[in-house]
Amino acid sequence: MACGYMSGFGGHFETETVAGALPEGRNSPQRPAFGLYAEQLSGTAFTAPRHENRRSWLYRMRPTADHRPYQRYEGAALFAPGPVETPLAPNRLRWDPLTMPETPTDFVDGLVTMMANRDPASLEGVAVHVYRATKDMDRVFFDADGELLIIPEQGRLDLATEMGRIALEPGEIALIPRGLRFRVALPDGTARGYVAENHGTLFRLPELGPLGSNGLAAARDFLTPVAAYEDEDGPVQLVQKNLGSLWTTTLDHSPLDVVAWHGNLAPCKYDLRRFNTMGTVSFDHPDPSIFTVLTSPSETPGRANADFVVFPPRWMVAEDTFRPPWFHRNVMSECMGLIYGAYDAKAEGFQPGGMSLHNLMAGHGPDVASWQAASAAELKPHKIDGTLAFMVETCWPYRPTQFALDRAQSDYDAAWGGFPKAQLP
Ligand SMILES: [Fe+2]
Repeated sequence: MACGYMSGFGGHFETETVAGALPEGRNSPQRPAFGLYAEQLSGTAFTAPRHENRRSWLYRMRPTADHRPYQRYEGAALFAPGPVETPLAPNRLRWDPLTMPETPTDFVDGLVTMMANRDPASLEGVAVHVYRATKDMDRVFFDADGELLIIPEQGRLDLATEMGRIALEPGEIALIPRGLRFRVALPDGTARGYVAENHGTLFRLPELGPLGSNGLAAARDFLTPVAAYEDEDGPVQLVQKNLGSLWTTTLDHSPLDVVAWHGNLAPCKYDLRRFNTMGTVSFDHPDPSIFTVLTSPSETPGRANADFVVFPPRWMVAEDTFRPPWFHRNVMSECMGLIYGAYDAKAEGFQPGGMSLHNLMAGHGPDVASWQAASAAELKPHKIDGTLAFMVETCWPYRPTQFALDRAQSDYDAAWGGFPKAQLP
């Protein structure tokens, strides 16, 4: 798949596949070139402050408005299953990697919702899904309920979006704006990974505060595709997620027919291995917020609707310090996943493709084996290497789906059994 990219995050881009397709000096001329249709895609309210306002103008072969009524979509039975209404036990939960489907399954039908925390209609909250795909999509999907942060764990993905093509591999993430149509192909035949669906304020780079003007994820490392379009007639199935349920209609053409676009709302990808990791060079283990790649703020300052945080390879040098993550209880709720390698606070049971959930006020931290090893370790500088874990942390407590509750590890609490009692003098 031919790909070209432009560098930056949330800045202004303009791209055209055919010279002259982008109008000059205006957004919606009376007659756009070649009979194209001008269409605005807004990711924020029209009147959002200028520094937060995100929108793009698309010049396409047919308007998106050209479609027939939607019908309920009956596939993807595990995607968007609706809320579990029974009281949720305050247990810590962990999952082994989900097995791959036994019958050919595309990206949409292979999506499994593991947990969610708000009604998408509230325009707040985040849901975490796992995808397991074994065949290319021959249809097109979009999500009206939020932007999608795609986190591959196994297998590459080719994303053909309305605004261009993205080649994605494990170690990278892609961010697909709310409403943007896309299709997923599998260059390796199969793929598995995670999707964080952000119903709230758009993901952005975190403020850097006293760090200054550099560090963590750099805007220049986010890559937005150049325009690419399909000129294809014939039936194309379109599936959308809308207010927590799935709907479908059939178009008489490919909706991936945007010939040119400009603006600051666009899909992008980012290589997590480019994250400029910060940490202590004296003592103590910093709060994991220092590993924030992207944040979706809530209306309360500093309290994220969703933070996407990574635990990348890094040097550990702190003196007289318990170096792994400490024991803690958190008003925020923490969903973790593992892309590859091993996570430093868990000796076993947390595999690539697996997940864990530590909801608000759940006591957690290193397991006994990790605590013993870290407590006894000679504190030389050492490098945590060959690993990439992540967390989707949110101020809204997660509710696992029934599917997830039914498949949680039965003995996760045992990770924290057997700690010796402190001996007072
Ligand atoms: Fe935690």
